Amino acid sequence: MLARKPKLHVDEAVLKTCTGPMPKHVGIIMDGNGRWAKGRGMPRIKGHHEGANAVRRTVESCRYLEIPHLTLYAFSSQNWGRPQDEVTGLMTLFDVYIKKERQRLIDNGVAMRMIGDRSRLSPGLLRAVEGLEDATAHNSDLILQVAVSYGGREEILSAVKAIAKEISDGTLRAEDIDEHTVSDHLYTRNIPDPELIIRTSGEFRVSNFLLWQAAYAEFFVTDTMWPDFNEVHLRDALNSFGSRERRFGLTSAQLSETSEEE
Ligand code: IPE
Ligand code: IPE
Ligand code: MG
Repeated sequence: MLARKPKLHVDEAVLKTCTGPMPKHVGIIMDGNGRWAKGRGMPRIKGHHEGANAVRRTVESCRYLEIPHLTLYAFSSQNWGRPQDEVTGLMTLFDVYIKKERQRLIDNGVAMRMIGDRSRLSPGLLRAVEGLEDATAHNSDLILQVAVSYGGREEILSAVKAIAKEISDGTLRAEDIDEHTVSDHLYTRNIPDPELIIRTSGEFRVSNFLLWQAAYAEFFVTDTMWPDFNEVHLRDALNSFGSRERRFGLTSAQLSETSEEE
């Protein structure tokens, strides 16, 4: 079969200035939609709508750069506590995004998976999400995880409950639990941990995002509000990542010894 040529509307000139090495998994806390809108005298929902364009730009840029995994934090477990009209507006926006982006995601070889508590979504939205997951399941060029109704603590809690149940059912022994057991019970099972986490809007906090998986992630915070996030900001984050020494608890000298041995 001939390889599909993806249709990527990205600023190639900017993305070509990424110097590498590239992370295998990028997570993004897409923050600042409300402030973007407020600064323009618009309702908050307008910021969320504009944010959807930044999502498309970012997905296609990662696809262009051949980054294999991208996780976008779209709606947290705690965001359910926002005013009802904002919550409804955001859920409608997800539904619209799924319908509008479907063909583009398929054509570009992107597999979309939702991570988060599905039981809180309306039946209609859940059907739309599962429809898109099924339609893109065979794609493998970019795995796009969208975190909706997602909380890191909630995710760990549900893993703990599932593990406890296996122990009480007699299918798992407590002494056999290791890090892999926990990882394998998270929504992100089979996906490598994020190596780079970007947060927009200048906030230096993790807000319940990928708590277990981010153990050794590099962080990059930009003051840019999410709707304005583009190829330049992504390039800057990736180049910052590429220039860092990731030591994983070891010393610089140990790391250079290992790389000399290779
Ligand atoms: C991020 O933008 C999107 C969601 C959390 C749903 P915000 O809506 O948090 O925007 P700010 O932080 O209020 O500006
Ligand atoms: C984090 O943003 C959640 C998402 C981007 C979906 P929030 O705006 O909810 O985070 P806080 O309230 O500033 O910590
Ligand atoms: Mg926010």
